[in-house]
Amino acid sequence: SQLSKDIYKLLIEIGTIADSQGVKIYLIGGIVRDFILNRANEDIDLVIEGDGIAFANLLSERLGGQVKSHEKFGTATWKTTENVKIDIVTCRTEYYDAPAALPNVRASNIREDLRRRDFTINAMALQINKSHFGTLLDFFQGQDDIEQKNIRILHTLSFIEDPTRIIRAVRFALRFHYQLTEQTFTLAIDAVAMLKQVSAKRLLREFELLVKEGSIIEAIKMLDEIGVWTTLLGHSPTEEEIIKVNAILNEIQDPFFLFLTFAYHQKDWKRKVKFFALTARQNQIIQQLEILDEHQKEQLTTIGSIHQQFYNYTEETIFIYTVLTKNEMLHTYLAKRKNVKALLSGRDLIDRGIKPGPVFSNILHQLTCLQLDDQIKTKGEAITWLETNFK
Ligand code: CTP
Repeated sequence: SQLSKDIYKLLIEIGTIADSQGVKIYLIGGIVRDFILNRANEDIDLVIEGDGIAFANLLSERLGGQVKSHEKFGTATWKTTENVKIDIVTCRTEYYDAPAALPNVRASNIREDLRRRDFTINAMALQINKSHFGTLLDFFQGQDDIEQKNIRILHTLSFIEDPTRIIRAVRFALRFHYQLTEQTFTLAIDAVAMLKQVSAKRLLREFELLVKEGSIIEAIKMLDEIGVWTTLLGHSPTEEEIIKVNAILNEIQDPFFLFLTFAYHQKDWKRKVKFFALTARQNQIIQQLEILDEHQKEQLTTIGSIHQQFYNYTEETIFIYTVLTKNEMLHTYLAKRKNVKALLSGRDLIDRGIKPGPVFSNILHQLTCLQLDDQIKTKGEAITWLETNFK
């Protein structure tokens, strides 16, 4: 009843095709958990005790649609003619050459496949072969943990093998209002140092999902109890930093700002934050914040003079700086800059005999500075100013 009729019918068809090949096939992961929780989810992940890629190709032969496969991981995505995306993987065991590294994989059976997963609530499978349609496999007491509202890892090395699961644990705990079991919490603390081995890209992907989930203040505090911030940035965030980051993330949902905000008042903030700056835009923000810091010392006195310096800085950078430093002047500047309207156009300048060229933007820029300082308020005043100064 939680699936649309079309998807339900499709699953039955897939199960029947798997029967014709003599392979077992299961729905897996979040969708099974969400069936039990009665939550909407149509993110269809299938695992098959057989060749996932070959099976995806067979589905597209029989039912149409397209297949994209990743030979290295034995996974395929089949896009049906109705544009439904279905991920199909070969049951696999993962083994790690080194902690926190990406895993090696080998084909295995459903039990082994479930065993490699993160938490008991995510390690259940629902068979869809016709004769067993809807049979739930729950080897690790996932249902019990749902009932008791537990986030529990499946084996003691889980966080060591994949430290990003520490962040996932917090995400699921907050989403469902569950708690980490005592052992899971302790093992998270024991493994937290391993987060240092994880690339910025993987960390940010995980933090991005966390930020999207909402409840960011609680998430920050939970991560702090585990020691995530001390590990990644060398200290716990203060209450004030948490308020600041919340204000920033409410406007811009980018996890990079977690690291920027928590590091910013530290001595070597730039070095720490650079590790997390993956885009040109993020690097530019770091650079511009540094320059803003320099100018802060010079005490810019008028809104117009601030505009002289920072007219080409994005609103985003100025907003972030304003939140980080609580700089009143820049706060006012930003509000005024957003609302300032051009009083003169290029046409007005041409009509007064000024030849088009770089001088145009110079004049209009000066005018904006004067408007921001409330020295010019109307078009009439602007024209008088123009005629007096640029004959
Ligand atoms: N998984 C895992 N370890 C990870 C990431 C994923 O074991 N670090 C497994 C879990 O079994 C999870 C499944 O892969 O259920 C699919 O991952 P993902 O789509 O990230 O998780 P969902 O549980 O579907 O989460 P969501 O509800 O947020 O989509």
